[in-house]
Amino acid sequence: MPHVDLTLPHHRYRIHIEPGLLSRLGELVRSVAPHKKAAVLVDANIAATLGARAKASLAAAGYDTLLHAIDAGEQHKNLDTVRQMYDVLIDAKLERKSPVIALGGGVMGDSVGFAAATYLRGVPFIQCPTTLLAMVDASVGGKVGVNVPRGKNLIGAFYQPNLVAIDIDSLDSLPPRELRCGLAECVKHGVIRDAARFNWLQRVVPAVLRGDKPTLVELVQWNVQIKANVVMADEKETGERAHLNFGHTFAHAIEATTGYGDGGYYHGEAVALGMVAATRLAIDRGLCPPTLLSQLVKLLGDIGLPTHAADLPPTPRLMEAMRLDKKVASGKLRLVLPRQLGEVVIDDTSSDEAIAAAWQTLRQPQSVTVPA
Ligand code: GLY
Repeated sequence: MPHVDLTLPHHRYRIHIEPGLLSRLGELVRSVAPHKKAAVLVDANIAATLGARAKASLAAAGYDTLLHAIDAGEQHKNLDTVRQMYDVLIDAKLERKSPVIALGGGVMGDSVGFAAATYLRGVPFIQCPTTLLAMVDASVGGKVGVNVPRGKNLIGAFYQPNLVAIDIDSLDSLPPRELRCGLAECVKHGVIRDAARFNWLQRVVPAVLRGDKPTLVELVQWNVQIKANVVMADEKETGERAHLNFGHTFAHAIEATTGYGDGGYYHGEAVALGMVAATRLAIDRGLCPPTLLSQLVKLLGDIGLPTHAADLPPTPRLMEAMRLDKKVASGKLRLVLPRQLGEVVIDDTSSDEAIAAAWQTLRQPQSVTVPA
């Protein structure tokens, strides 16, 4: 069955990718974290469906299983939710070797991961992502954490899971808008590492959007492999892992100023806009050819992601929010900019004027020529 192995100097784990995998969750968890108790912390929207299936599988594998539902919108990814998780784990008397399973999207994975990293100074942690975005990005690589009002993911840790279990069938019930948001991170992986797969993605968009299973398995496996390769080369983001932030410094500023998806842009939509802005900046600075923007805008447009936004907050507010992002070093903004399809650089030499100009161009449709 398709899988990717992630090997680090002190830890290794397998990412399983399979339709119907939830029914085997119990045996998989037992192979990495045998114990008498387990806890599944699940997005409340899927507690009765996928949550019940996960619990049944764990019970069949001999776990005394606690299933607890959490409100999982981005607005709940905060320390109050983590405190609620601690109470649940303490009440259930979960022990040092009891596995804690995050079942849901990136918000669940990040916040449950942070609770698992800190409860009893760390318990076995299993990622069970149910959204495309969490499958191809958030669940792999060990970044866990929460938002605070002044910024996204400002509180967190590196805490690698013991296992990632991806049931492709979870995508059956995913709203189309969320599927498109996951595809934004796939586009990102193509731009930063893999021109051939970027072009493959352009060809398979219709199959992905209609939920074709073999295409979805291939899509997820490709993206997990890219993510795992980057994390294996640079676990703690001292170098190339920062490439995964392509589009994200712009995106986080959009999210921070428009309320983290609460009626505004979802993360993947903000990333789509952020990748367009970063590419526009790279072109304006003579770092990459204009054709890259054409290819990016075409692919994002075909997926149904935004490539411009007339309703963005004023540029000075967006610039201020960018400065609060984690990617500021010695007061300088470090941006990931494309050189060509499949290659990016980390750059801290863009002037405020050039960055502000990129924000301005995001306000109207991109004037690019799409190659025939
Ligand atoms: N999502 C970016 C990273 O894991 O580094």
